[in-house]
Amino acid sequence: MTSKSKFKAIAPPPKTKPATTAAPLIPPRPTLKKLKLAAHDCRACPLWRNATQTVFGEGAARAEVILVGEQPGNDEDLAGKPFVGPAGKLLDHALVEAGIDRSKIYVTNVVKHFKWEPRGKRRIHKKPNSREIAACRPWLEAELEVLKPKILVCLGATAAQALIGKDFKVSRQRGQLAPSHLAPNVMATLHPSAILRAPDEETRHTQLKDFIADLKQVAHLIQKSQQKQ
Ligand code: URA
Repeated sequence: MTSKSKFKAIAPPPKTKPATTAAPLIPPRPTLKKLKLAAHDCRACPLWRNATQTVFGEGAARAEVILVGEQPGNDEDLAGKPFVGPAGKLLDHALVEAGIDRSKIYVTNVVKHFKWEPRGKRRIHKKPNSREIAACRPWLEAELEVLKPKILVCLGATAAQALIGKDFKVSRQRGQLAPSHLAPNVMATLHPSAILRAPDEETRHTQLKDFIADLKQVAHLIQKSQQKQ
């Protein structure tokens, strides 16, 4: 007798592959409320494991303007709301300066879980990769589909490259309005966190001025749209 068994080992049952995008989770006839509820349990990429909760978009149900950032930060992860930490405070300031009422717009992110790595006791933001962005994209597409915004503003390179084009350079192309299939007016501008990270006071001041100038263009479009109504 050889040591080889004549019986074939029973193959282990196939592992069910985890969904690689959120697409199967999008509810039929979505509303913002239904989407937020469904996104609560999203496991389409591994980021949920280290995050406190899904941070879905928030804002006016009839918003004409949608602002899209990269991903929630530490404070947003804990609060469950987008742009409430230091970047959110800077955004609030810039919106006031531009004459835009935050309660009338909608604010969201390309990725809806906080990606981070530990540094001592702190959780340091880590950029989402292309798989995580692709996995989360159906949520953003559904938000856009429900809201049908007139104006879409990408805050920073991650949102701009995900929604406008992978070669988009915020430093060179910020503030340019163009139509797209996503909205009649699409623009990318600086990310508030990038302004907070500016290397010196002078750069920070210039970037903030540019950011407010871009948002003023948005305010102007809102005014024009309201005059038509
Ligand atoms: N940065 C983002 O891109 N989004 C947030 O919600 C907070 C910080």
